[in-house]
Amino acid sequence: MVEARKIHRRDLDAYRRLRVAMLKEAPWAFASLPYVELTSHPSVVKQWLDDPGNELVVIDHPDEDGELASAVGIQRETKAQFRHKAVAWGVYTLPEFRGQGYGEAAMRHAIEVARSWSGVETLLLHVTGVASEALELYSSIGFETWGVEPDCVRLHGESYDVHRMRLSL
Ligand SMILES: CC(C)(COP(=O)(O)OP(=O)(O)OC[C@H]1O[C@@H](n2cnc3c(N)ncnc32)[C@H](O)[C@@H]1OP(=O)(O)O)[C@@H](O)C(=O)NCCC(=O)NCCS
Repeated sequence: MVEARKIHRRDLDAYRRLRVAMLKEAPWAFASLPYVELTSHPSVVKQWLDDPGNELVVIDHPDEDGELASAVGIQRETKAQFRHKAVAWGVYTLPEFRGQGYGEAAMRHAIEVARSWSGVETLLLHVTGVASEALELYSSIGFETWGVEPDCVRLHGESYDVHRMRLSL
C-alpha cells in the first residue's frame, strides 16, 4: 500500500533532488518562484518548512532507501483576508511510479493537512492545461475548475493556458 506522510528533517536533500527532477521534466508546470529556490540546498527547504503555513507531503521511494518517489507542497496564504485559503503546488510522481496511486495518496494526505489548519476552508491549484493526467487526478478527487487563464505561461517560445481549480475543504 502506498503511504503518504509529512516530510521529515532527514528527507530535505531527497526532496531537493525530487524538486530538481520535476523542474527538469516539466518546467512549464513548476517554474514559479519562490519554489525554484528549493532546488538550491537542503537548508533552503528547511527554511521554507520552518514557516508553519508551509508543508510538504511525500511518499518514500520503494526501492531506494532515503529517496522520495512523489510529493505535494501546500502553502497557506499569509494575508489576513486570504487566510481561509491554501495552495497546493509541486505535485509530482517519478515517471516509473505513475499510475500506481502515488499522486492520489499524496494529494489526499495534503488535503488532510490543509484541513487540519485552523480556519483554512479552500484549497487552490493552478494546473497547466497540457498536464492532462494532473487535471484528471484533481477532478477525480473533487477539485473544480473555476477559470482558465489563456497564455498564462510562456516558456522557451511556447504558450500555456493554466486552469485554476479549487476544492472546498
Ligand atoms: C500528475 C501526476 C502527479 C499523477 O501522479 P500519479 O502517481 O501517476 O497519479 P495516480 O497513480 O495516483 O493517479 C490518480 C488518478 O490520476 C489520473 N491519472 C493518472 N495518470 C493518468 C493518465 N496517464 N491518464 C489519465 N489519467 C491519469 C486518474 O484519474 C487516476 O485515477 P485512476 O488510477 O483511478 O484512474 C503525475 O502524472 C506527474 O507527476 N506528472 C508530471 C508532472 C505534473 O504534470 N504535475 C502536475 C502539475 S500541476
